[in-house]
Amino acid sequence: MKIGIVGGSGLIGSFLAHSIIDKGDSVVIFSRKSSLPLSLRNKDRISLISAQIPLEDDLEALDVLINLAGEPIVGAKWTPERKEELRASRVDLTRAIFENLKKCQKLPSTYIAGSAIGFYGAYDEDQPECTETSPPGDDFLSALCVEWENASLEFKNLGLRTLVLRTGVVLTTKGGALAQMLPAFRTFVGGVVNPGTQILSWIHMEDLVSAILHLLYDDSLSGIFNLTSPNPVSNEIFSNELASVLHRPCIFRIPNFALEFIYGEGAVLVYKGQKVLPKRLEETNFRFKFPEIRPALEDLLKVSL
Ligand SMILES: NC(=O)c1ccc[n+]([C@@H]2O[C@H](COP(=O)([O-])OP(=O)(O)OC[C@H]3O[C@@H](n4cnc5c(N)ncnc54)[C@H](OP(=O)(O)O)[C@@H]3O)[C@@H](O)[C@H]2O)c1
Repeated sequence: MKIGIVGGSGLIGSFLAHSIIDKGDSVVIFSRKSSLPLSLRNKDRISLISAQIPLEDDLEALDVLINLAGEPIVGAKWTPERKEELRASRVDLTRAIFENLKKCQKLPSTYIAGSAIGFYGAYDEDQPECTETSPPGDDFLSALCVEWENASLEFKNLGLRTLVLRTGVVLTTKGGALAQMLPAFRTFVGGVVNPGTQILSWIHMEDLVSAILHLLYDDSLSGIFNLTSPNPVSNEIFSNELASVLHRPCIFRIPNFALEFIYGEGAVLVYKGQKVLPKRLEETNFRFKFPEIRPALEDLLKVSL
């Protein structure tokens, strides 16, 4: 099969592309850049099309289209301009792909779309257990995910098997949340983010990629899937386990105002959380290699201790 990945040059896309070619299929990465990242270069069966939005000819050549594009949610202050960039790079981009697909003579069979557990809202205590049928929250990220998912689910109307990935916090040392926390923990200044009761619904990168392949290669599956481990943990437990695996102390408490100063409204991603369970994935008999946080962290950090 020929599998196109919009946003395939990113953290998740790069891991996914490697796993797809290991299965014997080929990958076309769509990127605004003129070259592939180093880890994807010179690989048989991985090619690049330098375009933000795939055109009709590109789309007609694909069996499956995966869309992981989006400006990074973490890292820059959520100003009104930044919020619009976060929205446009997800919602408008999805709609533009949809418009190009409508002009195609031949369509991919399957569309797999990114989303996030931010759909469910953010809590610091009294967190409900969220499964795929739980309602959305009422903050900026929830509204963004609702709009993004609605744009993605339109692909069903073109006859494509459509899947939406409500992804949790992906753990890998190559980027994302864990990579950002490691320097502080390694230099003995890591700590619990107040209040510490907020829940982190995490997933090991290896399980995330296996889950996406599981959904990709089983034609009977469609709709919305939470991609999180079955055992979310509080920030307090996560921070203590991380410190313990690194043989470091965990004595500091990080105050919310410090995070708000750096990230603005986006700080909610750290001092609030959500308890999300992968109900539908488990119903399809998907087996997690890392269902518990301690072995997941031990595996991720074994080569870089
Ligand atoms: N990592 C996580 O923990 C996590 C958790 C939940 C949800 N997600 C979601 O999953 C998706 C993939 O995550 P990731 O961690 O792999 O993200 P990433 O490393 O930041 O990669 C995102 C990709 O999106 C593309 N992109 C960024 N801004 C764009 C724009 N304005 N127009 C078109 N393309 C743009 C980039 O492609 P080029 O620069 O090559 O064009 C990049 O390769 C994202 O939508 C993210 O929000 C991630």
